[in-house]
Amino acid sequence: MKQSVLSLAPSVPLTQQRMPLYEALHTYSQSGVTPFDVPGHKMGATTNTLQQAFGDVLGLDVNSMKELDLLSHPQGVIAEAQSLAAEAFGADEAFFLVNGTTIGILAMIMATCAPGETLLVPRNGHKSVMDGIILSGARPIFIQPEVDVHFGIAHGVSVASVARAITTNPSAKVLLVTYPTYFGAMSELTEICELAHQHNITVIVDGAHGAHLGFMPNGKDALACGADAVTLSMHKTAGSLTQSSLLLLQTKRITKASVQKVLGMLQTTSASYLLMSSLDIARHELVCHGKERYAQLLPLIKQATKQIEAGGHYEVLKQAYVNERFAQHYDMTKLVVRVNSLGLTGFEVYTLLKEQYNIQMELAEGYVVMAVITPADTTRSLQRLVDALLAIEKDHAKGMTVLSLHVTPYEVNELVVCPREAYYASQETIVIDEAEGRISADTLMIYPPGIPLVIPGEKISRDVIAQYHYYNKTIGNVLMEAGSAHHITVIKEHA
Ligand SMILES: Cc1ncc(COP(=O)(O)O)c(C=O)c1O
Repeated sequence: MKQSVLSLAPSVPLTQQRMPLYEALHTYSQSGVTPFDVPGHKMGATTNTLQQAFGDVLGLDVNSMKELDLLSHPQGVIAEAQSLAAEAFGADEAFFLVNGTTIGILAMIMATCAPGETLLVPRNGHKSVMDGIILSGARPIFIQPEVDVHFGIAHGVSVASVARAITTNPSAKVLLVTYPTYFGAMSELTEICELAHQHNITVIVDGAHGAHLGFMPNGKDALACGADAVTLSMHKTAGSLTQSSLLLLQTKRITKASVQKVLGMLQTTSASYLLMSSLDIARHELVCHGKERYAQLLPLIKQATKQIEAGGHYEVLKQAYVNERFAQHYDMTKLVVRVNSLGLTGFEVYTLLKEQYNIQMELAEGYVVMAVITPADTTRSLQRLVDALLAIEKDHAKGMTVLSLHVTPYEVNELVVCPREAYYASQETIVIDEAEGRISADTLMIYPPGIPLVIPGEKISRDVIAQYHYYNKTIGNVLMEAGSAHHITVIKEHA
């Protein structure tokens, strides 16, 4: 491996400059071992298509053994690398994950909620939150997020709505918070954690989009706010390989053993050393160079924001806006550009950027497109995005604004049975117009703002059906699970 050309901050401890897992893997790959273990490509021993495609990388794709430790029972270099990750993020414990934050969310919910126990969750949680509810048998109580009608997206939950949820559900065991949201909004997590802890409620955090937060100037990550556990998609914003995440604990409310046990159930017994060692490398990189890189990046984002807004049609989501209107903080590395004043939807601008300018955005919604900016971006890459957006503005501005969406939170429906019970119940798929009063086995999701209209176990009201038709007719943005159009899967009434 090449030596870094960057100088290290003097405060970086010597131990953090090491990468014990990666170093052991590198040594093993260079040792001239003759492998009679799996994986069957034997470190790329034969010249075949896989070897031609991936080359030397195959020498690092090996299986567990004494010198490389075992993820499900770490005692050697994996334990050492996890402990360095814990130190880097200010945690008591860190667990390497090889199936993304998805598995971390399942593990956090399953380690904290027994069947029937109450979990407070934002209604706009990631799919894995609902899957965790089904697997654990928890009883969800939903908290509506703050909806931003101007940008057409949902932000985080407010302190007041968390307080309301706690007051009306005093037996709640766990609160899950998304911090930051996909679009970068950050609830007042310190206040929320204090409030939850006063009521003996454990706070677990979906930090999929916030692995870098603690390394931003004035950044405050979920653990610094007092959360008991957080899962971070290191692969999304902190430079590790896709699928690699970190689950961090800082609490007496959740034991290390309970998390290790549930991860042992959920994760593979053949964890990828490429993924795990990329976590070791990314942690090293963040600690050694993260702060300096983010300090250099933020002025570039501010500059790009100014340029994007100069023509008058675009608006970029900013800290002051989010703070004034929603009393939340904002992570400006999520460049959310409101484009509907061009007379185009976010989906149309997303497609133009890809098809005409070969620019791949992270996502589009009705009113916005979003770019994720990381220290791998440069003045040049940002300028390409700015130039493309300005060219689209020049060619396409229609002097009108697309405003066909009613982006409002809906009433939460009556939960008749727990989502887990709905999942395992006998089901049938029926026309949605005939579903009033039936119990849903599906989730109907409205994008934007990414809030479900109904989830498994909830009663389908007349209102749900009316809203389904409204959204389907006006913008066609209803995500259905049943295979056929205008159908929904429900629990059979007389099984
Ligand atoms: C808010 C949120 N939580 C969790 C996840 C799951 O993360 P991962 O892809 O690391 O499994 C995602 C993925 O996009 C997400 O957007």
